[in-house]
Amino acid sequence: MFLELDGHGPHYSQLTRAMKSAILSGRLVAGARLPPTRALAEELGVSRITVLTAYEQLRAEGYIVGRVGSGSYVSTSRAEPMPPQQAPSRSITPLTRYAKRARQLVDWSIPARHRDRRLDMQYGRPQVNPTLGTLWGRELAWAATHTRLEYSNVQGLPVLREQICDHLARRRGIRTSPDRILIVSGTQQAITLASRVLLDEGDEVAIEEPHYFSAWQQFGAHGASLLAIPTDQEGLVCSALPKQAPRLVMVTPSHQFPAGPTLSMARRQELLRYARIGSCWIMEDDYDGELRYESPPLPALRALDDDDRVIYVGTYSKVMFGALRLGYMVLPEVLCDDFINAKYLCDRGSPAVQQAALAHFMENGGFDRHLRFMTKELNSRRRELIAGLQQHAGDRVRIADAHAGMHITVWLSAYDHAQVDALIADAHERGLGLYSIAPHYQKPPDVPGLILGYCGLSKAQLHEATQLFGECLDAIDAAARELSPTRRRRA
Ligand SMILES: Cc1ncc(COP(=O)(O)O)c(C=O)c1O
Repeated sequence: MFLELDGHGPHYSQLTRAMKSAILSGRLVAGARLPPTRALAEELGVSRITVLTAYEQLRAEGYIVGRVGSGSYVSTSRAEPMPPQQAPSRSITPLTRYAKRARQLVDWSIPARHRDRRLDMQYGRPQVNPTLGTLWGRELAWAATHTRLEYSNVQGLPVLREQICDHLARRRGIRTSPDRILIVSGTQQAITLASRVLLDEGDEVAIEEPHYFSAWQQFGAHGASLLAIPTDQEGLVCSALPKQAPRLVMVTPSHQFPAGPTLSMARRQELLRYARIGSCWIMEDDYDGELRYESPPLPALRALDDDDRVIYVGTYSKVMFGALRLGYMVLPEVLCDDFINAKYLCDRGSPAVQQAALAHFMENGGFDRHLRFMTKELNSRRRELIAGLQQHAGDRVRIADAHAGMHITVWLSAYDHAQVDALIADAHERGLGLYSIAPHYQKPPDVPGLILGYCGLSKAQLHEATQLFGECLDAIDAAARELSPTRRRRA
């Protein structure tokens, strides 16, 4: 098999890159059988572990699939690894108010990412640990033979809820008990359940500006009246919350999504006070609070909540992978029964085999090891990205607070929105997938910004990506110099 290794970095990542390029260029067609790992290792003069690791990484990213006993094949579904991208049929008028609102809110063009770009900086592709596929396969196999196959506990397997309590106490400062935990299919379902339990049509929900647009869509489709509350360097501006408290405030305190700041301790106290006085609920979306670098995490909002008003939501989509569709809620005591009822009516409980596999992975220490690996790896990619931005973009971008998670937000105050749109289009042409922060705002921000996801690219790729980014900025600067002086960069 003809594969050209580029000589940069460890052998397994060279091989992964070479195979990806063969697949993307069509040299390896969908459905093609890959050589057995031993044979390829001999042919390339590398160890079999190197080939196994590369195959594992390709499998995790959806480039190849493995068939037990018959080897690995180029994936036939690689073209659509994400949710369906086609707009739903518009052939009938919507039959319900929900369907009508959902049509208005769900914009299928937003997730139409630049997945086909060689260097895609899409946020939230957590294929960081190349061994996770193998580890997870083992856990699933174990769980399949150790799980009772009848309908399981609606609230979630007790063993998983116990593991989550232990984990939350150790890592997030939250003391809770398994009877307060509800296992859900990710944050998305937590929001759906919260809408059903807490909101009638027209009830108010305060949400950060900028925000996680899926949360906006979910609440909006349910018929909530949404209030966009500004954020600044300390997170949610609590003083901008309305005098009359809404039913719910949705926040991302550990790492404001997508702008980056951590909700300061003073603001945390202010928000809790507000909820107590106004008798409203807070939903704490701790989507990547586990992934913290350099500065220690603040305790979760839930850990400071003496009034039992915070609904804490954790997800395995970032720390494991999105396709797992598992997350959990820590519920205020008085809301437990209503949420469990809603979960029962929704799907009778999340898949038990996956829950058992996850509980076992947590119990035997595999999850903690994986988390340590991920944190270390992501931190080194984050540093590479920051160093690359400093080198190639310099003062043309301002890097926002970047101490957590899987993405960095950069602001381009010296450019206008049209210039940044042109920059994105140009980057796309050059094989670099960049994403504007604008879709996460209800009203476009004054200053254009980009969300740079760094979990889907290796350090070498990040270096190359920042170099390309710098070249795209140079091109925009050159175009501005040729245009009228008013379009010129202010710097
Ligand atoms: C702010 C935020 N919350 C939660 C999630 C995870 O959602 P889910 O658990 O439904 O996959 C994401 C994923 O992109 C996110 O960006």
